[in-house]
Amino acid sequence: MELVILKDDKEIAKKVGDIIIDLVKTNKAAVLGLATGSSPESTYQYVIEKTAAEKIDWKEVVTFNLDEYIGLSETDEQSYCYYMNKKLFENININIKNTFVPSGLVKNDLEAQKYDEEIKKHGGIDLQILGIGTNGHIGFNEPKTSFDSLTRIVDLTPSTIAANARFFDNEADVPKQAVSMGLKSIMNAKKIILIAMGATKAEAIKALIEGNQSTEWPCTVLQDHSDILVVVDEAAASLLS
Ligand code: GLP
Repeated sequence: MELVILKDDKEIAKKVGDIIIDLVKTNKAAVLGLATGSSPESTYQYVIEKTAAEKIDWKEVVTFNLDEYIGLSETDEQSYCYYMNKKLFENININIKNTFVPSGLVKNDLEAQKYDEEIKKHGGIDLQILGIGTNGHIGFNEPKTSFDSLTRIVDLTPSTIAANARFFDNEADVPKQAVSMGLKSIMNAKKIILIAMGATKAEAIKALIEGNQSTEWPCTVLQDHSDILVVVDEAAASLLS
């Protein structure tokens, strides 16, 4: 596992954004795994700007997002699908048909797992971008998730609901369930970059870098990945010894 500690989100956006851009330049049909939340936002903005400046072609790139809230349709402004359209896809020349986000309208795990088949059909994920929850979740894989899990419907913990309430008008509006790629689905990616910013992530980053592997901290599954880069700011690194 490689760890890079940077000053702020601007430096993080450049570090991660340049890796994404280089991949798309060398493999015009690259398969990217993407995350939502605040952590990758500055990276997406950097990617948009660099794409415009260097006229980078995204039309054959394929993307798979990690997760979606159950019950929200693609057009719902709180959905992760809507987030991706606004924060990235509408600002680059990607073919929207090549962008996959788990459907928040799936009825059961069997339907949800078709997502893993779709990823496989596209040859697997070349580069997976991850954020991290304060409780160490990746995607929406909450503590106690099996390391063998695939895409499925999950219950959100009260702490995740509270942490994500800032994106909704009221905490009561935050869906109680999500559909998320599993830990195994994530581990299948050829390369992974995890971004964490701020002191609220420090405990999770300590568990990831220095802790014992345990389902209590879902992020620790990543300790077994052979090509993972963790990019954090100083606050997120503040508990590391
Ligand atoms: C959500 C998402 C995760 C994300 C995490 C952290 O729960 N499902 O994919 O990594 O929040 O979000 P943020 O980057 O906003 O702190």
